[in-house]
Amino acid sequence: MKSNTSPWWQHGIIYQIYPRSFKDSNGDGIGDLQGIISQLDYLTWLGVDALWLSPFYPSPMADFGYDITDYCNVDPIFGDLNTCNALIEYAHQRDLKVILDFVPNHTSDEHPWFLMSRSARHNPRRDWYIWADPRPGGTPPNNWLSVMGGPAWEWDDSTGQYYLHTFLKKQPDLNWRNPAVKAAMFDVIRFWLDRGIDGFRVDAAHYILKDPDLRDNPLNLSAQRVLHKPMGDYDSQVHLYDNGHSDVHTIYRELRHILDRYSATQPRFLLGEVHIFDRQAWASYYGANLDEFHMPFNFDLLTAAWNAQTIRQSVERLETHMPPGAWPNYVFGNHDEPRIIDRVGPALARLTMLLLLTLRGTPTLYYGDEIGMHNGEIQPEHVHDPMEKNKPGLGLGRDPERTPMQWDNSPNAGFCSPGVAPWLPVPADYPQINVAAEREDSHSLLTLTRRLIELRRSQPALSTGNYCAIDDVPDGCFVYLRQSGSDHFLVALNFSDQEQIVKLPETSQSHILLSTYLDREEPVEMASLRLRREEGCVLKVEKF
Ligand code: GLC
Repeated sequence: MKSNTSPWWQHGIIYQIYPRSFKDSNGDGIGDLQGIISQLDYLTWLGVDALWLSPFYPSPMADFGYDITDYCNVDPIFGDLNTCNALIEYAHQRDLKVILDFVPNHTSDEHPWFLMSRSARHNPRRDWYIWADPRPGGTPPNNWLSVMGGPAWEWDDSTGQYYLHTFLKKQPDLNWRNPAVKAAMFDVIRFWLDRGIDGFRVDAAHYILKDPDLRDNPLNLSAQRVLHKPMGDYDSQVHLYDNGHSDVHTIYRELRHILDRYSATQPRFLLGEVHIFDRQAWASYYGANLDEFHMPFNFDLLTAAWNAQTIRQSVERLETHMPPGAWPNYVFGNHDEPRIIDRVGPALARLTMLLLLTLRGTPTLYYGDEIGMHNGEIQPEHVHDPMEKNKPGLGLGRDPERTPMQWDNSPNAGFCSPGVAPWLPVPADYPQINVAAEREDSHSLLTLTRRLIELRRSQPALSTGNYCAIDDVPDGCFVYLRQSGSDHFLVALNFSDQEQIVKLPETSQSHILLSTYLDREEPVEMASLRLRREEGCVLKVEKF
């Protein structure tokens, strides 16, 4: 094993846990922090480096924890602060970092700050949120729309003004132009830093500052997609004024400064959820001097056509637009997106895992993707997600990717005790697709994932080495070289459903270290590298 001297967030793997769905320890059918503690050995065995926990703070759960009433506490559903401290401590004992979700754009409408803000126009907290007068005739202040459907403004009868909510009306937007809001939110950051957490994933990061004049968004006449997937009525506008105001960079510079100054011995990490698909605008969130996010999430491949050409183009567009010195990352799944395996199919899911774990950039792995969990089938009476409730039938519902983790073949897949009703139904395929069964199976996706992680950890070239694509390969293939010092690895991916022969310059010695079929580790002739349908291989090669 070679040691990697780069920061952990460059060579490490981030594993996202949706706490409601990971492991229930107290028999209420909802996952909790103690449940996560009980599975830390599994995560160590898998070999990931950091856990990103979706919100576990007190919340009325209108948006399942992304509507917060107290940023500095734990919802009783998930445990308490002591359990959280224990989770951080036990994770650290295993050398696992802990990243929390920081939700700066909005609170719950039940947060004490908002209750005060809405109580009277002269309340000192009034200006902590974004209030505006109606237009003549009583209509909302402008045409802005909520991501979750309908107008972004909600009328408050008792004080006679509208408040802004980029998401649900139960998620009023904070006013980050008010220095008191910024100070209070930075105190939240310090509260968690004091508890030893290793970093934050900043939710909806680009939304926190909007046009101060509240100008109308232009209509989207070209019908060009505004996000990575069709979003219903939200697509009718170009979202020019309701997010991404350039003042946002000052805030993230300040936030980064707090993290950077916090501890020399435990450097902290900042990750941003930035749904901006113009590469240059997106890249600006690294900061002009790489002084904002260590990484804004790269969502480009979430809905890309799954073929060699499109993926190579996406990787190269990213490599081209990265500011000098900035570090890339890749996301193929999270709690807002359909499961990857249902997008690409089971065979390509193996190839996709190899791609994720061998590209130049930090991988984020969504819980359950390592065993090939599918989208759950959610009957109408089980729909929880407000996105599905507000925009039914568009395929935007997020319950399918939030179903309970499939641990074993016992009732409820080992997620909660038999006889307890899990908060979302356990998919019917759990007797085959589960951690326990796949650990025993030397060809399972879990075994493949673990082997890939092991390989990546043992070879710095595969995580932090240079990336260079190889031209003149058959259609349907994506082949690239990863190199660090004198170590060279070739990654050869055949996305097609036919065998392909890749012809490469002969080098003195080449050896397949791993195939997605998990059935060959052997020397090969580079002049004619045979790849079976949907096969991916990692090869150790001599210099090209
Ligand atoms: C982010 C979260 C999503 C949530 C939204 C509002 O996009 O990932 O789950 O609904 O922000 O907080």
